[in-house]
Amino acid sequence: MIAAMEPLYEGKAKRLWATNDPDVLRMEFKNDATAFNGEKKASFDDKGRLNNAISTRIYQLLESEGVPTHLVRRIDDTSAEVRKVEILPVEVIVRNFAAGSFCRRTGMAEGTPFSRSVIEFSYKNDELGDPLINEDYIREMKLASEAELSHLRARALEVNGILTRLFDECGLRLVDFKLEFGRLATDPSRIVLADEISPDGCRLWDKKTGEKMDKDRFRRDLGGVMEAYREVLDRISDLLD
Ligand code: TMP
Ligand code: ASP
Repeated sequence: MIAAMEPLYEGKAKRLWATNDPDVLRMEFKNDATAFNGEKKASFDDKGRLNNAISTRIYQLLESEGVPTHLVRRIDDTSAEVRKVEILPVEVIVRNFAAGSFCRRTGMAEGTPFSRSVIEFSYKNDELGDPLINEDYIREMKLASEAELSHLRARALEVNGILTRLFDECGLRLVDFKLEFGRLATDPSRIVLADEISPDGCRLWDKKTGEKMDKDRFRRDLGGVMEAYREVLDRISDLLD
């Protein structure tokens, strides 16, 4: 068989490649980083490997806790095999403390704890800049069914519980994170967690020092971006391996 020369899909931080199995894709993590809807760009040596390693370990933990994901297995430093899905065009964001766009919208001080986790949705659309939407928008735009939507909420909270505990044991505070879900190509009635969970799509603060250990280091030009990602991987590996 001739190896595929063109990816099936190329996003800002990942490429998807065909495999011999039509229901399985290879997800390759790139070293590229973008922020502010692609306005700010950079490339970091080792980022692809670090995010693949972090995301794979987290998805294996979630699977072991009963959360279905697209992960099949990590196949090399920068890629993993994943089950083919149709990504729902809704990003699910879970927030435990005020940060980022929540603070910009509300004026609340960064780091303010929430009495209950805040779930937020955004419409996955680069041209529109992934705007914030609510459940009524999702219904009217037919982005997901009512049943799928309640499933997303429930899963997002379940994942939040598992990840909050994981990171807490690593000395990290899980401030917020973004999830993406997909309908399995082999059975679209089944929704699984897709995309990735890495410091690119989470806010993680060191519990002792308050230091940011995630992509905000890049967004805000704080330096030491890969050092932070590497530290997150080391702490997770110490706990899970
Ligand atoms: P926000 O505060 O900028 O809305 O981000 C909330 C969380 O979602 C944060 O952990 C970063 C993550 N996120 C993404 O993964 N992709 C995005 O495009 C954006 C805007 C945020
Ligand atoms: N991921 C988005 C981008 O690439 C935004 C962000 O994470 O800040 O532009």
